[in-house]
Amino acid sequence: MVSWAVTGATRGIGFGFVDNLSSDSNNQVFALIRSRSSAGPLEELAAKRGNIHIVVTDIADPKKLEEAAAEVSKVTAGALDVLILNAGSAVPETSGLPPTAFHGKKEALENEVNENIKNNLFSNIFVIEAFLELIRKGTEKKIAFVSSSSGDVEFTRITGISAVLGYSIAKAGMNMVMTKYAVELANEGIRTLSMSPGWVATDAAEAVTGDPEIRKFFLNAFHKLDPTVTGPIPVETSVAAQLKLVKNLTAEDSGKFVTHNGNSEWF
Ligand SMILES: NC(=O)c1ccc[n+]([C@@H]2O[C@H](COP(=O)([O-])OP(=O)(O)OC[C@H]3O[C@@H](n4cnc5c(N)ncnc54)[C@H](OP(=O)(O)O)[C@@H]3O)[C@@H](O)[C@H]2O)c1
Repeated sequence: MVSWAVTGATRGIGFGFVDNLSSDSNNQVFALIRSRSSAGPLEELAAKRGNIHIVVTDIADPKKLEEAAAEVSKVTAGALDVLILNAGSAVPETSGLPPTAFHGKKEALENEVNENIKNNLFSNIFVIEAFLELIRKGTEKKIAFVSSSSGDVEFTRITGISAVLGYSIAKAGMNMVMTKYAVELANEGIRTLSMSPGWVATDAAEAVTGDPEIRKFFLNAFHKLDPTVTGPIPVETSVAAQLKLVKNLTAEDSGKFVTHNGNSEWF
């Protein structure tokens, strides 16, 4: 049995990971969620598949995460093979603004950056800290982070997207954190990978690019990189591509940031 833990498993890409992985009875899947309020489809799936375990926790709270890791540990006899850091989102309402819009607005700037660092960087470090002992005892010993093209310098340079400042900083910072863990833990056989999932049809993508005018803006920006892109890809496509990368992750590639295509093709 291969054991997997996925954060943010109620919806979108995280739910897609759980659905894909649990369809194989050789996998044991721990779906880490913050609340059952949006977990209806996950609970329905878990009722049908005995290899899904729902764990309610708070990724911002190291103590709650220790309890979650202990819950997983009881089922797996102290081990975890693969940890997928998927939970994340662009916060707060100022995320649509470019850097110069924060001129003279110190508090708004600090809030934009700090909230995203809390939500998309510190929380992921807390999750790694809580589960590292289990990963050490696992067979696969892998930690994967669902990053974003927003955290990439070249993507930003070419598309010209100046908004989502704090989110981009947090995703770029977390990519580096993953590389730091990769180099520190390499001699223990632990491997890490940061992956851009692509432009994926989820609630989050709908919130950012759902409005027809805004979608036109993003499509124009994306066409600078790939003139053939027409819209987001299905969750299933992104998840299958990312899982292929995780399964094939070698020590040589540990710590890299790649697209779901395993290279620098973003769409
Ligand atoms: N969709 C895209 O095109 C795209 C592109 C680039 C990167 N990403 C990244 O892919 C990951 C998944 O995004 P998605 O598109 O699947 O989004 P989504 O449909 O909005 O789902 C986000 C999931 O993460 C959970 N979550 C969000 N913030 C959390 C927090 N602070 N604590 C605990 N759980 C939290 C949500 O839980 P609740 O149900 O409780 O809200 C939900 O399960 C994110 O890290 C996102 O940055 C997505």
